[in-house]
Amino acid sequence: MTSFGEYQFGNEVLFIPDLEKGFGQHRGMEQPRPTVAQHEKSQECAADLERRKYWFRWVTGHQSMLLLWHLLAAELSAFNSDDQITPDLELSAKIFRATASIYEYSCFLPVEFYNRDVRPFMSLSHMGFSGSWAADYRYLSLLCSMVMNAPRGVFDAGSLKIFKESRSMGHKSHVTVANRMVPGGGSLLKKSAETGCDFVRPLRHHYLIFDSFFQVHRTSVTADQLVDSLDMRIDAILVDLNQGDARGEDFFSVDPVRVIDEARVSIKQSRGSAFKGNIREAVEREVRSAHELLRLFDTNRDGAITRAEAGDIYAKRFQQWDKDGDGIATREEIEEFLLDMTTWQS
Ligand code: HEM
Repeated sequence: MTSFGEYQFGNEVLFIPDLEKGFGQHRGMEQPRPTVAQHEKSQECAADLERRKYWFRWVTGHQSMLLLWHLLAAELSAFNSDDQITPDLELSAKIFRATASIYEYSCFLPVEFYNRDVRPFMSLSHMGFSGSWAADYRYLSLLCSMVMNAPRGVFDAGSLKIFKESRSMGHKSHVTVANRMVPGGGSLLKKSAETGCDFVRPLRHHYLIFDSFFQVHRTSVTADQLVDSLDMRIDAILVDLNQGDARGEDFFSVDPVRVIDEARVSIKQSRGSAFKGNIREAVEREVRSAHELLRLFDTNRDGAITRAEAGDIYAKRFQQWDKDGDGIATREEIEEFLLDMTTWQS
């Protein structure tokens, strides 16, 4: 029996801070949590257990991912090369490895269930519903690039390599699950773009739709409360995984129980010293000047960045910079993008 949710495979509301506001300083009033026992006995609760389990995986899987991304962003944003403050890359790599397993866990459902119960429901919430509307993911690429473009010698080469590899594990898992659920990986966002709708640049409206779909409430929460909230969800996920599901054997690329638990242990051990970064300050520092980005990527010094100069790591961001899609991101386009990034909408 799990102590998570109001009944077996019930989801809970996730309390998490606005990324830009940072953690609360004082442990706020504890949120009353639903209790389990009396509901578990009801007949109604026993019915439809399989479908509820899949829905739990989709929702609590996503919530756990948001928590991991949020902690990662808080850790990476502590990086300040001027003050010689560096994030814990070993911890960050473990978190990235856990995100790879959580991608798989969230999609550990029959494709028919996804097509009948998940995708249409998301599409009714918004016809262009997209994972890119996950607010906690919003600055992760930017924060990672800060670390990966750090001057030589700031990070130990071995740790940096492991960090990069773990990050790509996450990306690979995403591609794998996307293709498994939707051959070709076509999202609702892509589908809506084909029909002429343009929601490519997310607004606060889109982040809120994502949050409400996944039962997320943005409020003041301390780092400790966030870690506890993750811990509780991981417990519930591991109860599910340890129950044994024959389909799991070929489904996961690595043992999810080991990888998720490893990240959990490290997160709990580091909670006193880690996750101290101020995401807003870090992002502002990073985007303060378009000239800085141009300096990094404009290798031929012509005041613009080509797709090739941006390279693989920035391929996705490049699409956002290159608003007119002509393969060249001009200074004006990048400045507009940066303005977008720093328009804090609280
Ligand atoms: C049913 C399986 C999935 C499919 C078909 C899928 C497809 C896609 C596609 C095509 C994109 C590119 C943007 C867009 O067109 O919307 C995307 C972006 C994204 N997805 Fe998924 N995805 C799936 C599962 C997941 C899961 C389980 C998560 C997280 C728990 C997730 C998180 C994200 C994020 C954060 C982005 C933004 C990536 C970026 O901007 O670099 N996706 N997804």
